[in-house]
Amino acid sequence: TEESWLPTLKTETPEEGYKLAVKLARKAVGMTQPDESVRKKLRPVYANNADSLTFASQVVAIHFQTVAAANNYWND
Ligand code: HEM
Repeated sequence: TEESWLPTLKTETPEEGYKLAVKLARKAVGMTQPDESVRKKLRPVYANNADSLTFASQVVAIHFQTVAAANNYWND
């Protein structure tokens, strides 16, 4: 049986939650463009573009909102 790549949104700490947010963002890129050679080719393009990096950061921020909510903002 295949292991889930997203078994839970619960994390121990906000920092771990932020890592999960980055993982969610990257997973979508991998699903959208499954061809690794294309992703590798495009990597230096976005890595050297301030707006691309700002958008990537925004996507992570949106996922972090979800993860934080799922963890009750680590206030329990
Ligand atoms: C590497 C995040 C979009 C291709 C990375 C790394 C991070 C990251 C954190 C560094 C990983 C490490 O060195 O351990 C993101 C986020 C994205 C995004 C948050 C958008 C929300 C994309 C897109 C592409 C891409 C659109 C290409 C279509 C790659 C590739 C690497 C990489 C190929 C590996 C580079 C290497 O081998 O050193 N990304 N990325 N990423 N990203 Fe992205």
